[in-house]
Amino acid sequence: MPEAPTPEASDAGTTAAPPRVLSGIQPTADSFHLGNYLGALRQWVAMQDTHEAFYCVVDLHAITVEHDPELLRRRTKVAAAQLFAMGIDPDRSAVFVQSHVPEHAELAWVLSCLTGFGEAGRMTQFKDKSSKQGTSGTSVGLFTYPILQAADILLYTPDPAAGRPLRVPVGEDQRQHLELTRTLAQRFNHRFGETFVLPDAHIPEGAAKITDLQEPGAKMSKSASSPQGILDVLEEPGPMRKKIMRAVTDTGSEVVYDEEKKAGVTNLLRIYSALEGTSIPDLEARYAGSGYGQFKKDLAQVVLDTFTPIRERTLKLLDDEDHLDRLLARGAERASEVAVRTMETVRERVGFVGRGR
Ligand code: TYM
Repeated sequence: MPEAPTPEASDAGTTAAPPRVLSGIQPTADSFHLGNYLGALRQWVAMQDTHEAFYCVVDLHAITVEHDPELLRRRTKVAAAQLFAMGIDPDRSAVFVQSHVPEHAELAWVLSCLTGFGEAGRMTQFKDKSSKQGTSGTSVGLFTYPILQAADILLYTPDPAAGRPLRVPVGEDQRQHLELTRTLAQRFNHRFGETFVLPDAHIPEGAAKITDLQEPGAKMSKSASSPQGILDVLEEPGPMRKKIMRAVTDTGSEVVYDEEKKAGVTNLLRIYSALEGTSIPDLEARYAGSGYGQFKKDLAQVVLDTFTPIRERTLKLLDDEDHLDRLLARGAERASEVAVRTMETVRERVGFVGRGR
């Protein structure tokens, strides 16, 4: 039997190569929100210093629910612009649009043939969304969504022999999809030979689940939150301040951390602490006796100090779409180099006949 090529064959033995990081975000809103930023995107920026980074705007995932084509195109560009504006450096990280690298859909097919129907049906995000939409409003794409996500991740596997980890920075809500990805990687390796490194979820402590400002029991979410419950990265300063001042707080007036009795204040404390880098006990001490008003006013300033420069840079990047398109083309080229190689290995291992030359 001929030796199968391994992904990254040329890197074999270069154990000094940095670990890889891969993550994705959907272009399904006019702006990213604070949950995206603290749960995931801030880690994306930090990890590019120590990892070989691949960051993907997942437009294929965005069509699993009904969408408007023009809006999707616009939001994909706005999403990419925000990533660069947050500090993702196109010279170091490959930022790309998922549909520019067709291997994502191809690997998803192969992995879907390894996924049990019941296994896919147990995904809680699918159960939540499909129960709201009913069976006739739910696409098969929504059902297989987590398998496409597994493909996004596993395409960027380092060579398993090289000892390089593959890390995936995400919020808490993605934990189950990461578990499925590991299961599928393991299953593939078991059936067809060691091909994929098992990816590790990289979930931040403290900010893994930012909740809705109006419904502190629920996740801040572009699809489920009301406009008053969500803080957008591209929000204007006036409305941003108002939303924070009107955030649901709890009975009493003490700024103290208590997940059960003070879910609203606790969420605001988590946000403050994550953005300013101050511990929660220090914040409690700073606001002891001063009531919710001052606390919220200061928090609004901290949020604006973070988001205003990102908003300004995003708008500037969107002024020159050709430049933005070129950055994305470069990202896709770098991503393709790895994705094409992984897919060659997968095709060979699965038993597809090579095309000949
Ligand atoms: P998406 O687009 O819904 O969200 C992007 C990232 O933001 C995180 N997040 C949150 N973190 C904390 N608190 C919140 N309220 C909050 N809301 C969202 C999400 O956990 C996510 O990390 N399925 C993914 C997209 C995806 C992906 C991938 C991620 C597709 N392929 C491959 C990683 C690797 C999603 O829907 O993210």
